[in-house]
Amino acid sequence: MEVIRVEGGSPISGEVGVEGAKNSALKLMAATILAPGVTTLKNVPNISDVHVMGKVLKCLGARVDVLGVHELRIDTSGVDSWETPYRLVEQMRASTAVMGPLLARFGKAVVAMPGGCNIGARKIDMHILGLEALGVKFKIDHGDIHASAPDGITGANVTLDFASVGATENLIMASVHAKGTTVIDNAAREPEIVDLANMLNEMGANIKGAGSPVIEITGVGELHPVTHTVVGDRIEAGTFLAMAGLCGEPVTVKGFEPLHLGLVLRKFEQMGITIETGFRQVTAYRNGPLKPVDIQTLPFPGFPTDMQSQTMCLLALAKGTCIVTENVFENRFMFASELQRMGSNIVIKGHHAVVHGVDGLSGAEVKSPDLRGGAALVMAGLVADGITTVSAIHHIDRGYENFVPKLQSLGAKVERVEVPDPEDPDL
Ligand code: UD1
Repeated sequence: MEVIRVEGGSPISGEVGVEGAKNSALKLMAATILAPGVTTLKNVPNISDVHVMGKVLKCLGARVDVLGVHELRIDTSGVDSWETPYRLVEQMRASTAVMGPLLARFGKAVVAMPGGCNIGARKIDMHILGLEALGVKFKIDHGDIHASAPDGITGANVTLDFASVGATENLIMASVHAKGTTVIDNAAREPEIVDLANMLNEMGANIKGAGSPVIEITGVGELHPVTHTVVGDRIEAGTFLAMAGLCGEPVTVKGFEPLHLGLVLRKFEQMGITIETGFRQVTAYRNGPLKPVDIQTLPFPGFPTDMQSQTMCLLALAKGTCIVTENVFENRFMFASELQRMGSNIVIKGHHAVVHGVDGLSGAEVKSPDLRGGAALVMAGLVADGITTVSAIHHIDRGYENFVPKLQSLGAKVERVEVPDPEDPDL
């Protein structure tokens, strides 16, 4: 099996570029179903989650061609199926994003019921309740969700219990051809939602208010294919900036909108990290000690749950104690348990983590609990004493393109190596 091996203690510095946002690219790919024809997406990250979404689209009858590393040409004129199999939904829950576009195009969709995942149960009840308000009927049968809109999709007012990213996206996409107007109240405000609405409007949809808590979608006729560039990945950017803050030397991260990391950058400053913001780039470095700062994750513009592990890694080495509160996903502290193996002092109480800063970490064999937790373990290895070996790196490959080469280009002593699999029965 392959692991990432990190030698601690070598400073990182220099410049690194980020790719297009995973969480945007996946939904934009699903949205191409709404505009029969050839849509070109640029700045698409070359990561395994994008490959899975490509398979989902192919399975529905689309043609997906890769032009160069970061460009996808998706021809959805031949989409003639509305069924997404469990083997793909199981690999990536975001494949449920095809439900809204399939309902809008065909008035029906069959999507395997997603199970839980490492970071929590990840229910889709809000997607279902919202779509029911638009006239969609649901039946769950043999593990599949059968959705159909026998009388078509009709605009309605939907108030979400929680500003769910996935539910907001599915409701927007389901509503583009609806009779009348759909109003989503307490909608998610993430930059990836704005990117989706922008592309749909370029295709001819009528969506107002994306980026605010109230989104209004007025149904229109056919959409037409477009060429669209995926927004830069704020979480990949935040991960490299956190690493700069941890190691100390300046790192400039390019290719994203700094405003998309607003609160993260303010919290980093409170921790004693210097942040210099430029046009589509941020430089981070640190001279003094890391200071403890309380964090609570919330939907955008709150502190992103996808930056919680990387930030906890910084706080684990701060001079003092602070509290990290996870409000979005129930199981997102598994990273903390792995970090304990490296000598951190973190006490978990429900959805709070009390982080007592320690003077240093020691390299160890650790396992990626999930995508962001895996990246944060590699980050911890950069400053740990000795060698850290991070396994289960398929999690990291889901969302970070060229993670190891990018770190190497910044001077990190890190590599992917083959090691015997401890679960191999011959060992
Ligand atoms: C998306 C992102 C993920 C990010 C998350 C929150 C993608 C592919 N993933 O995930 O990286 O961490 O937003 O910013 O874009 N919930 C329900 N019922 C529902 C829907 C959600 O209870 O119907 C709960 C979830 O279990 C979770 C919380 O709401 O606890 C937030 O989920 P949501 O915002 O929907 O996240 P995702 O769209 O799954």
